[in-house]
Amino acid sequence: MKKSGSLLAMMGAVLSLSVLSACGSQQGGAAADADTPEGAAFQYRQAVMRIVANKMTTIGGMAREEIPLDETAFKKATADLAVMAGMITEGFMPAGAPSGSKSLPEVWTNWSDFQQKATDLSNAAAGLAAAAQTGGFAAAQGLVQGTAGTCGGCHRTYRMRAE
Ligand code: HEC
Repeated sequence: MKKSGSLLAMMGAVLSLSVLSACGSQQGGAAADADTPEGAAFQYRQAVMRIVANKMTTIGGMAREEIPLDETAFKKATADLAVMAGMITEGFMPAGAPSGSKSLPEVWTNWSDFQQKATDLSNAAAGLAAAAQTGGFAAAQGLVQGTAGTCGGCHRTYRMRAE
């Protein structure tokens, strides 16, 4: 009895804490920690971008013959990339670039164009994955460069250049 009572109290405390932190984040000045919605979005998009980059490295490396060709790994990387591409835009909501973020304000002022750039990658990656699935590396290789080009197509306008 006592035990379940204190468990309930603890759950209540946890609940009110999370409500508190959700309210606290309403005040501007986003921080890079995940306690704010903007901070959580920033961490999410970094994770998505790092996986996207990892998959692109595998795909591009095999296409340029810098990594030994592995048909199974190639197919999987193209399928994974297509899935991850569909997760990009949700990493930019709600709007905000916490410290450390390289997102430019244009992401949110040109939101529909930004979404289009994400769709460009999604479409290219879906085409690449479909070609790899049906015809293997030989059928997909010619689509790799175009897919990789959509990364820069977005970064050029929406990501700060490295110093
Ligand atoms: C729709 C736009 C868009 C597309 C498409 C896109 N990126 Fe990004 N990417 C961004 C933005 C914006 C940032 C900066 C995010 C931030 O710091 O807030 C970023 C950040 C990154 C980062 C840095 C992640 C980190 O550790 O902080 C890498 C790596 C990256 N992108 C790789 C890629 C690769 C590879 C592709 C293509 C397969 C790609 N991106 C496609 C917009 C895009």
